[in-house]
Amino acid sequence: MAAALSSKMAVAPAFKATSRPAARRAPVSVQAASAPAFVPDMNRRVTMNFLLAGAIGAPAIGLAGPFALFFVPPSVGGGGGGTVAKDALGNDVKSTSWLATHPIGDRSLVQGLKADATYLIVNTEGSIEKYGLNAVCTHLGCVVPWNKAENKFMCPCHGSQYNAEGKKIRGPAPLSLALAHCDIVDDLVSFTPWTETDFRTGEKPWWS
Ligand code: FES
Repeated sequence: MAAALSSKMAVAPAFKATSRPAARRAPVSVQAASAPAFVPDMNRRVTMNFLLAGAIGAPAIGLAGPFALFFVPPSVGGGGGGTVAKDALGNDVKSTSWLATHPIGDRSLVQGLKADATYLIVNTEGSIEKYGLNAVCTHLGCVVPWNKAENKFMCPCHGSQYNAEGKKIRGPAPLSLALAHCDIVDDLVSFTPWTETDFRTGEKPWWS
């Protein structure tokens, strides 16, 4: 057995580098292909340049437009530079139609500056008040409902109360409701920031 094994090992081929005779290489001949000399005429060159400019320019303009718009503040749309109030459906609030459906003393919510819920007030003269009231409670940010029977705004979250002008009268809220100027421009109700003294407190506006 051992003898047979040793004889097989002796016969088994081992991995070893084999030297092969160098292949006979045929001489390589390089032939230079002579391309036909194509030189487009002037009309074709102009057309090609035009197409190339269009291919590069159109996408560049398409990208540059939105990029430039990124730096433009959101449109406030009409209203002499203010933010046009929007109703619950997202439509512009028009003074005439609003007053036709909202009686004296009404305080209803619209979308105001920075899309904040804002009260539009119909004053005792039957016109829209020159200021709007931001409906966000100055305590912890609940939207404060108007309580017509109590003639004040009453926050359901922690009991803060504000009078009909939005001045804080009780509860944990530290400050009165924020004001915004409200103007009618071309029948559109428009808000602009209130930066002057708060007429309810005689103090600087805390919100600006
Ligand atoms: S959030 Fe209005 S009282 Fe607290």
